[in-house]
Amino acid sequence: GAPGDLHEPILGWYADHARDLPWRHDDCSAWGVLVSEVMLQQTPVARVLPVWLEWMERWPTPRDLALAPAGDAVRAWGRLGYPRRALRLHQSAVAIVEQHGSEVPATEAELLTLPGVGTYTAAAVACFAHGERTVVVDTNVRRVEARAVTGAALPAAALTRAETALAATLVPADPAVARVWNVAVMELGALVCTARSPRCPDCPVAHLCAWRLAGSPAYDGPPRKG
Ligand code: ADE
Repeated sequence: GAPGDLHEPILGWYADHARDLPWRHDDCSAWGVLVSEVMLQQTPVARVLPVWLEWMERWPTPRDLALAPAGDAVRAWGRLGYPRRALRLHQSAVAIVEQHGSEVPATEAELLTLPGVGTYTAAAVACFAHGERTVVVDTNVRRVEARAVTGAALPAAALTRAETALAATLVPADPAVARVWNVAVMELGALVCTARSPRCPDCPVAHLCAWRLAGSPAYDGPPRKG
């Protein structure tokens, strides 16, 4: 079917099944979104949630964190892992205060200048915090699109230009719809279209999934982590 065939079922599924996470609330600050995306880069939602809540109570704005010693940020990071992320977030807070008038930048290009902010995080923050129509491609999005559209069991190890191009064609034109779409595909990949045991009976696009229609063939590429 046409790429747009995925929109209604996935947006409808998200409306009914999304997890209620504080950084997805409309009243969450851009800073709260940035903190969540940095924490979620390498740590699952369940472990991020309590640390994010404490962090946002202690440092509700970039200015609050910028004024704190970097060591406090590293300690508060706790057991999230990859503690250099805490240092980079502290450096980002300083840069936001000194170079961006204490406001989290709204464009991907500006966000990319912040320490620890790469392609994914810049697109996610521009979209989820500022409503920009960006192309948010994380490992969950890649897996959903590889299966549903391409018919592959899993995406390749490294992100390809073709995948980014495909993802871009799937993002709805209206920025407000794009914002929900970007998080909805991610959520479908996290909750249903999982790497090892996808829950196809619960999937809103199982009926048009290229991988399912091909008989759900096993992965036959090079050995991989995911
Ligand atoms: N919601 C918004 N961004 C997210 C992410 N990276 N992981 C899980 N849920 C999210």
